[in-house]
Amino acid sequence: MKRLAEIASSLGVRKQRLNLIACVNEVDALGLGGNLLYRFKEDFQWFQTVTSGQVVIMGVKTYKEIGKPLPNRRNIVIHNPSKGEVEVPDDVILVTSLDEALMIASFDGERDVFIIGGEALYGESFSRGVDYVYRTKVWDDTMGDTFFINDDTLKNQFHNVNNESFRTKTCVNRMTGREERIQFEIWRNNSLLERADNLADWVSLHT
Ligand SMILES: NC(=O)c1ccc[n+]([C@@H]2O[C@H](COP(=O)([O-])OP(=O)(O)OC[C@H]3O[C@@H](n4cnc5c(N)ncnc54)[C@H](OP(=O)(O)O)[C@@H]3O)[C@@H](O)[C@H]2O)c1
Repeated sequence: MKRLAEIASSLGVRKQRLNLIACVNEVDALGLGGNLLYRFKEDFQWFQTVTSGQVVIMGVKTYKEIGKPLPNRRNIVIHNPSKGEVEVPDDVILVTSLDEALMIASFDGERDVFIIGGEALYGESFSRGVDYVYRTKVWDDTMGDTFFINDDTLKNQFHNVNNESFRTKTCVNRMTGREERIQFEIWRNNSLLERADNLADWVSLHT
């Protein structure tokens, strides 16, 4: 049976991962008045590195804030057409629900899926079960009007996969010019192995 695991691995068969990525502060705030709370060059580079080549799913307000499709990624935007038309370029896929977004993302099975905001979309995806959470944590307590998954909820179900990924840096927030202490975290769902990370893992576990 070990050979099955090797075959699955060599075939490159894997489960498409569902991930969240966000930049949040000590009070789990994401944004204020439709804008981000922080703009760090280092965080944009991190976001670019992690999501490049993958599928990104976002709410229409987040899309409008970004203002254009993210290059080198499949962009899927969720909106409700009854609330008015949204103008998007041809390479952006408009859908009306998270289910529809995930179904379309599944056609890109070799890519992973990143939910990139905002609040409701993070919450709905989290409650369905995500594999990894990429959280940039800012050591600041500015109040916002949109929030990420509560810190305790995250810690109950996820664990940090690599202490090195928690590296802390002091970076300049381009919105305020202030220096902030930030850290790049990667949280892995505790039940990921039981849910079979990929077919090779599943076969290994069951043989
Ligand atoms: N810090 C970060 O990492 C980060 C990341 C992303 C966003 N943000 C911030 O978060 C704020 C925007 O987030 P938001 O929560 O207000 O808006 P959002 O999720 O970007 O957009 C909300 C809209 O998207 C549609 N939508 C989202 N989820 C849906 C679902 N599951 N089913 C159906 N429609 C859905 C709805 O569109 P309709 O109105 O058409 O129904 C909803 O009104 C901004 O301040 C932004 O800067 C921060």
